Amino acid sequence: MVGIGERRGRTASADSDGLVDRIGQVVGSKGLILDPRDMEPYLTDWRRLYVGRARAVVRPASTPETAAVVALAAAARVAIVPQGGNTGMVGASVPDDSGRQIVIALGRMNRIRKLDPLNNTLTAEAGCILQQIQEAARAEGRLFPLSLGAEGRCQIGGNLSTNAGGHGVLRYGNARDLVLGIEAVLPDGRIWDGLRALRKDNTGYDLKQLFIGAEGTLGIITAAVLKLFALPEEVVSAFVGFERLEDAMVLLARLRAALGETVTAFELIPRIGLELARRHLANVADPLAGPHAHYLLIEVAGSGRDRDTREAVEAALSEALQAGLLSDAVLAASTAQAKAFWRVRETLSEAQALEGPTIKHDVAVPISEAPAFIRRATTAVEAALPGVRTVAFGHLGDGNIHFNLTHPAGDDPKVFLARQTELNRIVHDITADMDGSISAEHGLGQLKREEIARYKAPLELELMRRIKATLDPLNIMNPGKVL
Ligand code: FAD
Ligand code: MLT
Ligand code: ZN
Repeated sequence: MVGIGERRGRTASADSDGLVDRIGQVVGSKGLILDPRDMEPYLTDWRRLYVGRARAVVRPASTPETAAVVALAAAARVAIVPQGGNTGMVGASVPDDSGRQIVIALGRMNRIRKLDPLNNTLTAEAGCILQQIQEAARAEGRLFPLSLGAEGRCQIGGNLSTNAGGHGVLRYGNARDLVLGIEAVLPDGRIWDGLRALRKDNTGYDLKQLFIGAEGTLGIITAAVLKLFALPEEVVSAFVGFERLEDAMVLLARLRAALGETVTAFELIPRIGLELARRHLANVADPLAGPHAHYLLIEVAGSGRDRDTREAVEAALSEALQAGLLSDAVLAASTAQAKAFWRVRETLSEAQALEGPTIKHDVAVPISEAPAFIRRATTAVEAALPGVRTVAFGHLGDGNIHFNLTHPAGDDPKVFLARQTELNRIVHDITADMDGSISAEHGLGQLKREEIARYKAPLELELMRRIKATLDPLNIMNPGKVL
């Protein structure tokens, strides 16, 4: 029999133990990438911080194929890096530079297996793009509320493995809260069918939660049962300019008092973020006439049954304007205008990256403490590096601030990057002092693997290590990430 490696022109010595050939026999030529140029997109992370090498990129088409590949790799003691859309921020989805690991990319497993409108559930394979799931739910008059800037590329398996947040968390929770069941391939190649679609199930430990947020270190998620919600009948988007961070928290409380749980997004955009987005990207417009220190993108999703949502938002914002909490506000008059508001928000990361290298901090603090955190951290980093440009933005409504830094204008970005560890320490120490988390939604990956040891209790780290050793005693599942 001619092995896949040989067909692709690989030498026998590159596959001396025959593992790649055996994998090729499971997944076929469509499921195996060996050419270095074709492998390249799977080996570099989105931020281009990590460039790895791999023995092969494997793209299984089904759960049994995934299980068979994992069993073969486990038998050969070869490490596996699961990969979804490769949009993660902490270098968790790419292999190391040994060239010995294999990447298992889930993109071909992209079927929606079932949508049950009466149970309000959707069962999707791990490789489904998030947007595909949102659209499938919408086609049945339902909402899948997970939403983030990378939704056109990230996959649900990646979203669950990072316990993604995004901008609906204040209303719907994190990815973890949106799952009823999962199917996973364990590090020894066995398939765990936990695809239950139940709202109640108290039959012992909630095992699915172990795999959610595990960043591929405990197994490969191959499918999930997701919760669906009522599709809002009316969505109102507002772009608000304001000057004092503390006022935003008063505004949020007022909006919640007036509109209850219908407030679904409350996103902070600083003036510098808007300016960078306008400088570097097309079709980004300032929705307001004059400049303001900060902006909020607020979304309210109403049922349309009780009271006109638009009227209620207008009333709440004009009261806030009179109270001096905000300086200006505009409501989107059309879906296109709402999209234009979101373009400002969703391009912040990219715009900052186009300005130069970014030192990112993905911080969570109690919601009420967010303004104090931004103030303290800004003062501290400016004292350490005069002129540093702070772009503090993000999910203010749930207390998650992306406290991202750009080099002082005119300075050499390399000199700035050399200060990364020091600046991280300053920001993370303030976060810890405010009982916050140094990774709100992006995970630990490789980037924060060492850093977490300073902030997480030794007992918690020990329990994590024990869970890892129990489920993955050979340490073949995404080694070097998280722990
Ligand atoms: P990948 O990057 O491919 O992988 C991430 C981790 O999950 C890795 O550890 C990988 O090994 C593991 N993994 C992937 N698939 C599986 C699987 N099937 N089984 C087991 N492990 C798996 N994140 C947020 O939380 N909120 C945001 O608002 C947000 N905004 C973003 C905006 C932009 C422009 C970009 C580029 C990224 C943003 N992110 C955000 C980060 C990123 O999109 C999320 O972390 C996303 O959930 C990653 O999904 P992915 O499919 O790309 O996973
Ligand atoms: C976002 O919310 O846009 C990303 O999670 C933030 C980031 O890029 O740091
Ligand atoms: Zn975010």
